[in-house]
Amino acid sequence: MVARAVRQNPRLVLGLPTGRTPESFYHALVRMHRRGRLDFGRVTTFNLDEFTGLAADDPRSYRAYMHRVLGAFVNLSTSRVHLPDGSASDWQREARRYDNAIVRAGGLDVAVIGIGANGHIGFNEPAPALEAATHLVRLRPESRRANAYLFGGRPQQVPTHALSMGIGTILRARTVVLLATGQAKAAIVARALTGPVTTRVPASLLQVHRSAVAVLDRSAAAGLAAAATDSA
Ligand code: PGA
Repeated sequence: MVARAVRQNPRLVLGLPTGRTPESFYHALVRMHRRGRLDFGRVTTFNLDEFTGLAADDPRSYRAYMHRVLGAFVNLSTSRVHLPDGSASDWQREARRYDNAIVRAGGLDVAVIGIGANGHIGFNEPAPALEAATHLVRLRPESRRANAYLFGGRPQQVPTHALSMGIGTILRARTVVLLATGQAKAAIVARALTGPVTTRVPASLLQVHRSAVAVLDRSAAAGLAAAATDSA
């Protein structure tokens, strides 16, 4: 879907996720690029989030992750690759800068996103209310545990805060593609896609999006069959 969108619009503006789930997605993009079938030369990317308190060149940052899985292998122009700067001293200013850059680029054409086991998208964690714009987030313990693999398996080493794109920016993307794999995501996928729309499950807000697609493997989709049977 992303390759098709890039071919249709070589100046595509992409929202991109990090995490374990999208690794095979990035590998596929790299493969297509290597076969000469995908040109990133004029594509612009905005990542969903970044840890705060890490230096810009910290290998554990999401910027470094993006370089490892995609940037090092395709012809993305570094001037068109954007992540929030987690090392910025004034996070409010950095958040405004990031949102302005997204607006100047014309907004996100396609936002590819993952889902946390707690229902978060980007780092919009479950809460009574969500922020529309880029903002500072205090990471929930489960999110720090889920990211421990980047920090030598030690959740306490994972930064306590991150800058995250807001729910408004994600929902304004022209198309949203939600990726989920594995049994650990089955319950939350079912809640997000078939349960009530609630900020307690941020991904459930995708139910009101005009053009949202969930790409699931069988394990992650397992709860959907159960939900359909329950409601039948
Ligand atoms: P994961 O993260 O792909 O590592 O499960 C997804 C997310 O938290 O958005």
